[in-house]
This record gives sequence, C-alpha cells and structure tokens, in this order.
Amino acid sequence: MQRIYLYVPATDEYMKKVALAFSGGLDTTVCVPILEEEYGYDEVVGVTVDVGQPEEEFEEAYETAEALGLEHHVVDAKQEFAQLCLDSVCANADYQGYPLGTALARPVIAKAILGLAEEQDCDGIAHGCTGKGNDQLRFEAVWRASDLEVIAPVREMGMTREWEIEYAAEKDLPVQGGNEGVWSIDTNLWSRSIEGGNLEDPGYVPPEDIYEWTDQPSDETELIEIAFEDGYPVAVDDEELEPLELISLLNEKAGKHGVGRTDMMEDRMLGLKVRENYEHPAATTLLNAHEALEGLVLTKEERDFKATVDNEWSQKAYEGLIDAPLVGALNAFVEKTQQRVTGTVTIKFEGGQARPVGRESEYAAYSESAASFNTETVDGIKQADATGVAKYHGFQARLANQSVEKQKPELAADGGSD
Ligand code: ARG
Repeated sequence: MQRIYLYVPATDEYMKKVALAFSGGLDTTVCVPILEEEYGYDEVVGVTVDVGQPEEEFEEAYETAEALGLEHHVVDAKQEFAQLCLDSVCANADYQGYPLGTALARPVIAKAILGLAEEQDCDGIAHGCTGKGNDQLRFEAVWRASDLEVIAPVREMGMTREWEIEYAAEKDLPVQGGNEGVWSIDTNLWSRSIEGGNLEDPGYVPPEDIYEWTDQPSDETELIEIAFEDGYPVAVDDEELEPLELISLLNEKAGKHGVGRTDMMEDRMLGLKVRENYEHPAATTLLNAHEALEGLVLTKEERDFKATVDNEWSQKAYEGLIDAPLVGALNAFVEKTQQRVTGTVTIKFEGGQARPVGRESEYAAYSESAASFNTETVDGIKQADATGVAKYHGFQARLANQSVEKQKPELAADGGSD
C-alpha cells in the first residue's frame, strides 16, 4: 500500500480580534482583559470616536490604552456629527425637552467603530454599556446589521461598579482614581449631560458647579442674528460658518448667558425614569431661532402637521434609529418644508434665555397690511366680509349645547354637554 504524505506548511495560528468602543474609563478598561479571558479573543483594538469631546477625554483614552498595551485608534467624526445635529434642527428635534446630544452621537460612533472593525478584519465588536441604559440599544441597532459577534461584557456578566473597581485593582489595571468624579458626564458637540451621585435624587437641587458650558445668567443681554438657508443655519452676525464652527461659536456665545440648561425627568427606552441634567447652549439657540423662522414662512397646516413629524423624528432619534426607513420618509417631508425656511432671525440672550425677537424672510407667508389694524381693505377683502364667517363659527357647538339644554337641563347647568 502506498502512502502519500501531504506537506502542510506551518501557518500562524488564527488570531481572533475584537474592536472595542474605548473611552479609557473604568467600564471599557475592564472590558479589555475580559474580552481575552472570558470571550476568547486574542487581540483587542480600542476605538475612540471624536464627536467633540473635550481634549482631556482623549488624553485619558491615550494614556490608558498605552498603559494597557492596547492598539488604539481615534476616528474623527466631528463633521458628520455636526451635520446630523443641524439635520435635527430642521426637525425641531427634542425628546421631552432634551435636544438629543448623546442619542444623535451614538449611531455616528457605532458606524465609525464598525467601519474600523471591518477594515481591521475583526471577528467581534464590543461596548462597555450597562444593561440599564439607552446606549446599548443604540450601538447594537447599528452593529447587529453586520456579521460580527456583538459583545456587551458589562451587561452580559452583570458587572457592578464595585466589582469593576475590585477587578481592576486585582489585575493592576490603569484606572486613574481621579477620572471617576462625583458626576457621570457625557459630552459632545451638541450637549453635555450630568448624571449620578446626589443627582439621582430628583429632589436634590444641583450645585452650580455641575455646569461647565453655561455661566449663571447675569443682567447682561446680547443680540445676535442667525441666517438660515433651506432650514440650515449658515451664518452668525453675517459671518458664514461651517456646521462645526457655527455650533462651537454658539455654544460659547450662548453659554456665557447661561442659555440651555435642562433639569428633567427622562423616560428611557426600557421604561426606567432617570433624572437628567443637560447643558446645550447652541442647540437651544438654534432650535428657538429655527422654529421662529418656520413660524413666519410655513402655513398653519404645515406647522401643525410638521409638529407630528418632528415628534416622530425625535422619538426615533432618541432610540438611535436615525437610519430607519421611517426617518428617511420623514426626512423627505422635512426637506420639502425647509425649501422656504430661508431668512434671518434675531435672538436676544437675556436671563438665561435665547429668545427670538425678530425674523425676516423673502418667503414669509405673512402680509403686514392684511394683519394690520390700520388698513380696511386687503386684496379686495373688507372687514365686513368676516361677518358671514363669524355667524357660522361655533355653529355645531351651539346646536349641541342647545339640545342638551332642552333634553337634559340638569347637565346643561354645569356648562357644555360633557
Ligand atoms: N439620557 C441621555 C440619553 O440616553 C444621556 C445619557 C448620557 N449618559 C451616558 N452615559 N451616555 O440620551
């Protein structure tokens, strides 16, 4: 019998690789060895996505990655995120009073990490979010469209903060005691959120020092003029600016006047209520200005219907589902309405408010002479022409109330047929 020996060349053993959303904080630092020990990965790649966090956060990420010996990438997504923030202005987007900074940033971050993971031929993709919050859902909504293994060690292993601290000490992980301050903060270009500590008690009045972007409102006032084109803000006081610069400038200007502080109870996607504090000076200023301009150029029926569209847009944005087909369809409506949202709005910063005090547009659906007290006839319509309308106005309500008066006088005494 003849034997055939096949020569099999020695190959490097296959290295299993995972991309991790990495901030350098406790959660994501702990995830690095856990992904190797518990999930069988040979290589972890840390990814930090720049959506306008402060410089210190990148330093923390660099230093921690270096101390861990972690391959670390920073992806700049600031422009893309700034554009999305301005898209949200076109939809007057807010969720329960919160202009959605964290929510809008998550799909941008998730896509950037996924792009890098695919480029690097990773097998898995991981985040350090807990199982209680919104971010896990927003990240995974993007990632689960890929073939990568999606891993959420903090949630899957039921980690607690104490456990993480103990584990980090045991493994001698580089967690700086100082980086976990009193508050838990999430900052990007559009908003800064402050949570945790005493703020978890909804009755606790926050100290002034939770705020970093906004000064306590003073007696000073300032007027600025914002120009919009097709719904998008394009200039401040006649200076044309790109989205990123425009937002940064307004954060600074409005922040000095204490504009854009929100202290609220927020209903998270899983149903939990959470007490949130936010600051978002540029967002508040732009949203107020944009809505003021829409008030001038859109018809009543457009405004009424758009409020419903805007609300739906905001709900989906909160859920991190900005790429859902529904949002695409809503965007088509929003875009159509924005074709006339071109003009300027004067904003007055006063007492912590950014109040629209003037608006102008060549598309105004407004006739000064028609609304004026000083003219009798407009386009051939006289005041007296409204008499017929006034006679009919409330006709059905009158009939209904009269019938109740007749048939059920005891109910009519309370007023109205309820
Ligand atoms: N509650 C907000 C949201 O879900 C912001 C939360 C910010 N904190 C955080 N750890 N991501 O959009």
